[in-house]
Amino acid sequence: MALQFPESFLWGASTAAHQVEGNNTNSDFWLMENLEGSVFTEPSGSAVDHYNRFRDDIAEMAKMGLNSYRFSIEWARIEPEEGQYEASEIEHYREVLLACKENNITPIVTLHHFSSPQWLIRLGGWESADTPARFARYCTHVMGELGELMPYVCTINEANISIGIKKIMKRYELKSGSPGAQVGMNMEKMAQMQTYFAELSKAFGVPPTEVHSFLAPRSEQGLAVIFQAHVEARAAIRQVSPQTKVGVTLSLYDIQSVPGGEENARHAWQEEFVQFVPYLQDDDFFGLQNYTRAVYGPDGLLPVSEDAETTQMGNEFYPEALGAVVRYVSTHLKMPIMITENGIATDDDTRRIAFIDQALKGVHDCIADGFQVLGYMHWSLMDNFEWQLGFSKRFGLIEVDRTTQERTIKPSGIHLGNIARENAI
Ligand code: BGC
Repeated sequence: MALQFPESFLWGASTAAHQVEGNNTNSDFWLMENLEGSVFTEPSGSAVDHYNRFRDDIAEMAKMGLNSYRFSIEWARIEPEEGQYEASEIEHYREVLLACKENNITPIVTLHHFSSPQWLIRLGGWESADTPARFARYCTHVMGELGELMPYVCTINEANISIGIKKIMKRYELKSGSPGAQVGMNMEKMAQMQTYFAELSKAFGVPPTEVHSFLAPRSEQGLAVIFQAHVEARAAIRQVSPQTKVGVTLSLYDIQSVPGGEENARHAWQEEFVQFVPYLQDDDFFGLQNYTRAVYGPDGLLPVSEDAETTQMGNEFYPEALGAVVRYVSTHLKMPIMITENGIATDDDTRRIAFIDQALKGVHDCIADGFQVLGYMHWSLMDNFEWQLGFSKRFGLIEVDRTTQERTIKPSGIHLGNIARENAI
């Protein structure tokens, strides 16, 4: 028998501006990608040209059967120099939001998804105590202009990602080679990090140790800056757009342990999630992003077992993680959960279909047990720019030929669309 979802359930897919739009020239990532010694395998360039093709892409989602779209607004476009707002870019995003409306697609908008304006990095980036106020000011501007078209806003994407990045770096030093963050990091180029930072320093005009882009190791103070930015942005958004529901998103593994690893697992939950709960308690919803599990033993994180199926990212194929994380989060946060990202990088689309089915089974069980889940946004709508790893990792429900920018819906896209139409698995 089909498993039915609540009538109001949102079915959609996610993207992030820098990963799909193309030519995000005022952002820090653009600069980092185009340096001679860049650790990026390739620059984002015109990406998948979503900046120009958003109308067709949104219409396509609606045709597929989806009823929601999570995308991000690019701060570097809206405020290319500090205090200078680009009216034409506000109009661009108004068009995107209106395209959603015309297609009966509920937008879920992220206001910061990893990339920042270059000027912010010159002013101390995500370690500066002035950044929360600067971010809140940008949020006030966007929401004052467009808030009435936005029912849901995520202030910051994966506000906790630096914890995972720190773990990656540590593991690289220890040469153990298992993944530590749910994002594309180019491990092969780690050795050239020093030269890269020297170049970055020149490009941004700050000392090498002070290039604080969002996806960089973070001090305790930097972590507090990010969560403070969320809190100040939330207050600013509520002031100008009181009807908008506000949340943040976090990157969360399903943290498990084998006998003897319980204390390590407890510590990992604390470090990656529980310590941030006080900042989130007043949110309207929680944005949950999950891709796999992390298993701890007595000596720390265990490598993915050799006989496990893995994805192009080296993650274990483990869709059961999603439901488990919904349950864990709900024990600490009494608010509805929006699944803002979940997916796998693979060229075998049959595995993506299997992943979706199993992940959704877990979500359905949670809902049946009384947990409130508002929607499921698959990562990603289209194959796109996976940060330092470039275009080689394919997470999309839609394939993109980057020479022609032609789109082809994959069977997994048709599959998720059918689930959305029937509101059942
Ligand atoms: C990020 C996305 C990224 C995805 C897959 C998440 O960490 O929000 O930007 O592409 O994971 O690695």
